[in-house]
Amino acid sequence: MSPRKHHATPESAVEHVHDAFGTAEWWRTAVIYQVYPRSFADSDGDGNGDLGGIRNRLAYLHDLGVDAIWISPFYPSPQADGGYDVADHRDVDPMYGTLADADDLIAAAHALGIRVIIDIVPNHTSDEHPWFQAALAAGPGSPERARYWFVDSPGVPNNWPSEFGGPAWTQVADGQWYLHLFDRKQPDLNWENPEVREMFAGTLRFWLDRGVDGFRIDVAHHLVKAPGLSDVDADWDAYNRGALPTNAVPFADQDGVHDIYRQWRALLDSYPGERAMVAEAWVTPHDRLARYVRADEFQQAFNFDYMRATWDADALRAQIRTTLRNADSVGAPATWVLSNHDVIRHATRLVRADPTMAPWILEATEPRPDTGLGLRRARAATALMLALPGSSYLYQGEELGLREVIELPAKARTDPDFLRGGGHRLGRDGCRVPIPWTKDAPAFGFNDTGASWLPQPADFGDYAVDRQRGRDGSTLELYRSLLAVRRQRQLGNGSLALVDLRPDVVALDVTNDRGTTRIVLNLGSAPWPIPASARVLVASTDGVTDLLPTDCAVWLTD
Ligand code: NOJ
Ligand code: MG
Repeated sequence: MSPRKHHATPESAVEHVHDAFGTAEWWRTAVIYQVYPRSFADSDGDGNGDLGGIRNRLAYLHDLGVDAIWISPFYPSPQADGGYDVADHRDVDPMYGTLADADDLIAAAHALGIRVIIDIVPNHTSDEHPWFQAALAAGPGSPERARYWFVDSPGVPNNWPSEFGGPAWTQVADGQWYLHLFDRKQPDLNWENPEVREMFAGTLRFWLDRGVDGFRIDVAHHLVKAPGLSDVDADWDAYNRGALPTNAVPFADQDGVHDIYRQWRALLDSYPGERAMVAEAWVTPHDRLARYVRADEFQQAFNFDYMRATWDADALRAQIRTTLRNADSVGAPATWVLSNHDVIRHATRLVRADPTMAPWILEATEPRPDTGLGLRRARAATALMLALPGSSYLYQGEELGLREVIELPAKARTDPDFLRGGGHRLGRDGCRVPIPWTKDAPAFGFNDTGASWLPQPADFGDYAVDRQRGRDGSTLELYRSLLAVRRQRQLGNGSLALVDLRPDVVALDVTNDRGTTRIVLNLGSAPWPIPASARVLVASTDGVTDLLPTDCAVWLTD
């Protein structure tokens, strides 16, 4: 190690933001790893990942050091939207296995101390769900149609757009129209109908009885629509950039959704163990999101405003401060997330040309970002995130530093966001490419046959687990170190203070009975001198001892 030339900086201004929690439920601090099952590991060689594949790789997840997994939908589905078009909520798609495989997976995860969260999709069903088929057969005015949003002209369809492009209404043979905020194969359910409520309460019980630890609730902010189904007059570009409140449109963040979640929370609380639910609610601003995590609703909500923060010290500080203050105001843990199956992988997103663009929109004309710089920033961003008090989410493959696969050929793409969008938006397939496990193996070890439902690019071999495991400086070893130190120092629960070191440096102290950990992320162009008195616990780039370079983060202690 080179001798330290720098001396401790004088005491800096400190802004106290957050106190540690007094209680220790697992979901307050858990690191939760998202498995996108079709792309994780394929045990039967058909080119689609499956439940057996996840089970075979549990030891890897245990070794990585995560507390829980969240598995995206594995239910019977025509796969019009990657399984978020559910045809039967209480079974497993044969592509993924059987209910017995689900039981085995839950048991095997629990044996390793890994909790299991599954995905519930309550806003819509597949059009191949028996309920929608019955609605089509029964005709206008029937109780079967009353489970969905069937309407007659005139007055409707209104001007609501589908999230994936085109109108949110499709006409059926008898002339009525049905609402689908997503693909036309995903009709919206009508949550004013008690049968819908009963069906989902039964579904939650079905899976709670099988031992799951909780649920991720898909588009939790969409279930209730404002009465009258009036036209939208929002500036969509501003809306998609998060510049308008979510409830500026009549089908998002309506107050009525909270009644549903209060009932679900009571149901979860009637089960032994700390069963938990997390809201996938793209709700802004933070005080509106905090309403989802009041004491009798969700335990957690994804923090997408943090995900959307630009690579800028002021923006990150503001998000950390606002997140913690709003979560604290209702006694909920903050959550943190950088990647998932819907957004451009953060190793690519953090260097995109227009950083305020919605993270799920990948335009066909966007310039290809710099992979090296992207990975460097991604590692630093993760090092900051995993030090923050609360619960963090990881998305499969980010621990390998995977990039977005922008170059997928059009004929390989499956995402309705691409298929409905006329080719302007490339969609989300590029963050769903199967995981590389072994460089010199068929499909990079995704299976034994070499089949892969999306093609893997050649450079994925260099990211393979076997190339990174045990190699100093690899992204996988960085994640393992961050998770190990986070556990040793119990960083999920501590007080947090923002420290004023330099305007272009984010610095914070997390303090608990294990001591104080100082996290420093350098977003400026000049290196930041690490004080001679500090010990480096972990750094996002190798070889950091006395100077912290641009786009690097470090965890320090005295
Ligand atoms: C959010 C899911 O994460 C996304 O993948 C899906 O397309 C929509 N909800 C519709 O279910
Ligand atoms: Mg398979």
